[in-house]
Amino acid sequence: MRAAIAVLDFGSQYAQLIARRVRELQVYCELFPCDAPADTVQAIQPAGYILSGGPASIYADGAPQVPGYVLESELPVLGICYGMQALTHALGGVVAPSQQREYGMAWVQATVENPLLPPRTYPVWMSHGDRIDRLPPGFTALAASPNSPLAAMGDPARGYYGVQFHPEVRHTPGGSEILRRFVVDVCSIEPDWTPESIITRSVARIRRQVGKASVLAAVSGGVDSSVATALVHRAVGDQLCAVFVDTGLLRQGEGVQVEEAFRAHLGAPLQVVDAAEDFFAALAGVTEPEAKRRIVGERFIRTFEAHAHTLGEVRYLVQGTIYPDVVESRAPERAKAERIKTHHNVGGLPEQMDFELVEPLRYLFKDEVRAVGEALGLPEALVWRQPFPGPGLAVRCLGEVTPERVRRLRMADDIFTSELQAAGLLGKRAVASDSPGIAQAFAALLPVRSVGVMGDQRTYQEAVALRAVTSEDFMTADWARLPQDLLAQVANRIVNEVDGVNRVVFDLTSKPPATIEWE
Ligand code: XMP
Repeated sequence: MRAAIAVLDFGSQYAQLIARRVRELQVYCELFPCDAPADTVQAIQPAGYILSGGPASIYADGAPQVPGYVLESELPVLGICYGMQALTHALGGVVAPSQQREYGMAWVQATVENPLLPPRTYPVWMSHGDRIDRLPPGFTALAASPNSPLAAMGDPARGYYGVQFHPEVRHTPGGSEILRRFVVDVCSIEPDWTPESIITRSVARIRRQVGKASVLAAVSGGVDSSVATALVHRAVGDQLCAVFVDTGLLRQGEGVQVEEAFRAHLGAPLQVVDAAEDFFAALAGVTEPEAKRRIVGERFIRTFEAHAHTLGEVRYLVQGTIYPDVVESRAPERAKAERIKTHHNVGGLPEQMDFELVEPLRYLFKDEVRAVGEALGLPEALVWRQPFPGPGLAVRCLGEVTPERVRRLRMADDIFTSELQAAGLLGKRAVASDSPGIAQAFAALLPVRSVGVMGDQRTYQEAVALRAVTSEDFMTADWARLPQDLLAQVANRIVNEVDGVNRVVFDLTSKPPATIEWE
């Protein structure tokens, strides 16, 4: 039975959001460029199509059009903003530049009974220049806003709908319900995309892919590599060998936590390779951030390789690639984007090694990865941990990376994050709540010394910077307004408990112009 939705991306900044909202309705959905080959899109056997918004004007040269296979399929279609205009144009209606552009909040009044927008007034988010001037044959006007007399349209007999506003954004409070009506009622999809069903399907897919061969997993301690490894373990049991490289650059208790999670909760063996000495030796005397990133990335590969060779013949490597990585790497303009930092993660491995990849999270969003992790029995502390850069504490220890300085940094970081956790500002509750909680919080050790006084003695010691940000996607971020009493408590504890630190500062910059990490 057809149970998926294909979202065609016409260049909207919200296209990924549409896919996420549909997945939140427990319906599988994938995002495709609007010019993707028909058979690629049809391979998921969609039960309906959603056409996203986009920046073009439908009559402009080269403006993307509704692909022929969409209309030939005779499946339901929902056009959003530009998607509605493209649908109108394709089916013989008229689109015109609006006298007045319409951005931001608006009220639309739905006027007739229909499956998508029952008659009432809806607060919605608008963001468009052009608008529909004449409906295509067979369509009825469903709703109007002061500036868009045809703010929604429908042809229920064919299951064709269009909305000028954006149901996928949070600023359209009833938006998810509108999408639900399209996906469940109009496309007749039975929602079944739950963590349990994701696990069942993934397990079957992994077994099909690897058969009886051995599989290797590099666990980094992050959510994605842990969940990917746990899924593969569920699928192939002892055929999996999971390796965790302790770089000496991990957060407080991280190594033990990951090892325990695998041993105790999953019954999966995890081999821990202690390579801290190697990493510190390779980093000795290095202060330049990009050089640190390169060295850690390279060391990681070499350590992993050396270990993998002791394991006999291994054909497959588990990788925690998640859906936003896949979607973003498809966008051609990304390749042209300026490199701000060299991101290192286990993703660097396959180029140098002869493995086929097993990527069980390739079609999952982060929140789905977390839900699957919990359903697999991984502990909350692991599943809800905040992001951590591949090069670890090396890029939070500004200046030279020595065991002593990393020890200092680790203690300060632990004090800060555990105080936030105790205040309910970090972890599952904070991440899962709708309010924009703290997305990331950590300490950085600065390579400056300043004068202080402790017990009537002069001190000349290093400073710690506290960084806490709110962010939806980590592309932009704002500094988090933390309670002053909490900051006072953290600063006080750090200077009292961490040898070698006599000053604490709080980072007040947003991203841009700063980045989240300091290096
Ligand atoms: P920046 O500092 O660029 O960080 O604003 C954005 C997000 O990416 C994380 N980050 C990394 N993640 N490998 C990773 O997997 C890396 O090398 C890396 N560097 C930064 C950072 O923690 C933040 O969440």
